Amino acid sequence: MSGKPAVLVTRKLPQAVEERLTRDYDARLNVSDRIYTSEELIELSEGALAIIPCHTERLTTDVIASLPDSVRAICSFSVGYDHIDLDAARARAITVTNTPDVLSDATAEIAVLCMLGAARRAYESAREIRTDSWADWSATHQLGVQITGKRIGIVGMGRVGQIMARRARGFDMEVHYYNRSRLNEERENGAIYHATIESLLRHSDVLSIHCPATPETTGMINAETIALLPDGAIVVNTARGAVIDDDTLIAALQSGKLFAAGLDVFNNEPDIDPRYKELDNTFLLPHVGSATVETRDAMGFRALDNLDAIVAGETPRDKLA
Ligand code: DGY
Repeated sequence: MSGKPAVLVTRKLPQAVEERLTRDYDARLNVSDRIYTSEELIELSEGALAIIPCHTERLTTDVIASLPDSVRAICSFSVGYDHIDLDAARARAITVTNTPDVLSDATAEIAVLCMLGAARRAYESAREIRTDSWADWSATHQLGVQITGKRIGIVGMGRVGQIMARRARGFDMEVHYYNRSRLNEERENGAIYHATIESLLRHSDVLSIHCPATPETTGMINAETIALLPDGAIVVNTARGAVIDDDTLIAALQSGKLFAAGLDVFNNEPDIDPRYKELDNTFLLPHVGSATVETRDAMGFRALDNLDAIVAGETPRDKLA
């Protein structure tokens, strides 16, 4: 017994984060990085004061109800918290935190990559190089869509959405947005507010999704809403797969209603709908929005700052429940 509080860490975290964890806690690290089953997670939490999960662990009502009494905190290594049932945690007086702010820049960078990758047919072009199928330069070959000067529609003008808006302005794009509430003038910074998603869609040459997955946003991009996008629009998703109805998006990509999609997140990761992979007009990434050295360290330290506060009997900065 080290005398330090025990903490279950469900996935392998960056070295600097694990070093701080082992310095300050009796850290139960996951060296193999194998994803635990719910049963294992419950069993391994026995005697632990806290769990540090990632979005890959589903802390459902049932899992939270079955956690040992020792567990007083869930400090997620993620900004998203759709994998944690907050009501169930509240019912057991378990404090829950996330890691906002620190991954906003990295996620917006990936959104720009997805936007450009989709607009400029990066997947097809890269494939030509790697498969030696590049015949020669041609004036009519691999023609994409120029995004400079186009309209971008941002769904969810929170931290990431606002940074995406700034990056889009760098491409002289006209920024439109839909958000639960309108931003003040300073934050809006000239962006055009739409009170409904329907109105936003009609004005989006590129639609970029930056809202969390909630019961309200699940399936928000569906047959009715996609029909409102201009023909040849581009859809970018770096938030959560659940916001998109896959059948609809795939049909719109197959029919040519949409020019392309750039996706970093999916329903049912990593077993995504295989039809996405069959399409040439998709630019697909494996949920790497926050995957930079700087950001992953910062996420870990933010989760640990929250845990330290809880252990000290203080209210953690990023308390969700
Ligand atoms: C987040 O932090 O929510 C990212 O999607 C990675 O989990």
